[in-house]
Amino acid sequence: MNLKQIVEAESKFLTANYKKYPLFVEKGRKCLVYDYAGKRYVDLLAGIAVNALGHNHPRIANIFRKQIKKSVHVCNLFYHPYQALLAEKLLEISGLQKAFFCNSGTEAVEAAFKLARGYAYKNQLGEGKHEILTLDNAFHGRTYGALSATASDKYRKPYEPLVPGFRFVRFNDVEDLQRNFTDRVCAIIIEPLQGEGGIHACSEAFLQAARKLCDQQRALLIFDEIQCGIGRTGRYFYYEKFGIRPDILTLAKPLGLGIPLGALLTTDTVAPTFGPGDHGTTFGGGPLACRLGFEFVKILQEEEMLETIREKGDYFKNKLLGLKDKYAFVADVRGEGLMLGMQLDFPARDIVNRCLEAGFIINVTSDTVLRFLPPYIITKKEISRFIKALDKIFSQVAQERKEGTPPAPEAVSH
Ligand SMILES: Cc1ncc(COP(=O)(O)O)c(C=O)c1O
Repeated sequence: MNLKQIVEAESKFLTANYKKYPLFVEKGRKCLVYDYAGKRYVDLLAGIAVNALGHNHPRIANIFRKQIKKSVHVCNLFYHPYQALLAEKLLEISGLQKAFFCNSGTEAVEAAFKLARGYAYKNQLGEGKHEILTLDNAFHGRTYGALSATASDKYRKPYEPLVPGFRFVRFNDVEDLQRNFTDRVCAIIIEPLQGEGGIHACSEAFLQAARKLCDQQRALLIFDEIQCGIGRTGRYFYYEKFGIRPDILTLAKPLGLGIPLGALLTTDTVAPTFGPGDHGTTFGGGPLACRLGFEFVKILQEEEMLETIREKGDYFKNKLLGLKDKYAFVADVRGEGLMLGMQLDFPARDIVNRCLEAGFIINVTSDTVLRFLPPYIITKKEISRFIKALDKIFSQVAQERKEGTPPAPEAVSH
């Protein structure tokens, strides 16, 4: 099959809920991806923050080989070693005390909402204490609970009515947060560094205020670090930057390095809310996924990767800032570590396509923000090659704008 044939076959056989780029992936190695025609691409997206160790990492490939010979699925009625081993590692690096494993980010968020409402109910914290605050511009997933906490009308409107009891607070607006934080609130969910919303960081003042209000109102602070967590910003978790700890933490994306795996971490106080039968999943926490997660965290620790993520992130960000100085249509450069965004003053999908043609994989979020989520093993040389290519593309765009050729207008998120 070639690209044209696969596009035709997919349009015939699949629902049309993804707007795909013209890339027919065969394989990958380190930070490189190869298509079926043999063309090579530098991957600066990592499967939307999943392939944190790039492609075909030797230690990870070895775990795959070993574990599939033993068992891939063990249901949650029985024991295998890797849930506890991975949980211990995640709890060690997060400062939390109990873990629950599922299969995806949105499932971790659903578990968090159930846990928060159940906690208020079982501890009799007050009649009607079931409201969940969430931020405008937030993205927490696409199942009904997670969607109810996701702001964008584009995602919500066609599927209403959604789950009741969610209210939106203005991003980084402490007064709005205080106004909305009544005694009916059982939890607030926050992405400390927003991803899909366009790479926006919460301010320290806002996060501190959220922590304080949660303590005052006996509500739970949920941090969703599905995109920004487990090393991506050069810390295990972005919240470490502020010395604030959540009551519930949701994780997914890179955790299983491509095998679906989500996690909810919480405290000893909150965890007993879930008793036998209160929550569960058939596939969540299987031995292959958890063993991969365990190996991933071990590699982060043993290879002291956080420091190199910070260093390469600074290098990348400075290069992007250099382009901002050069091109007036670059409005902003945001983010930390290897989670970076570049705000343009026009829809950015055309730039993504041009990068692809030039052999670089990036994407766009929030219509106008180029997003960079490369594997943690990206090299400075690869970053530098990309910046040169982007510079060339931008200079063409600048020229076209001068001549009055508008850029291709299409724009979607993932
Ligand atoms: C912050 C955040 N939360 C939740 C999700 C949903 O995760 P999943 O797509 O694994 O369901 C995402 C996915 O992009 C995310 O970035």
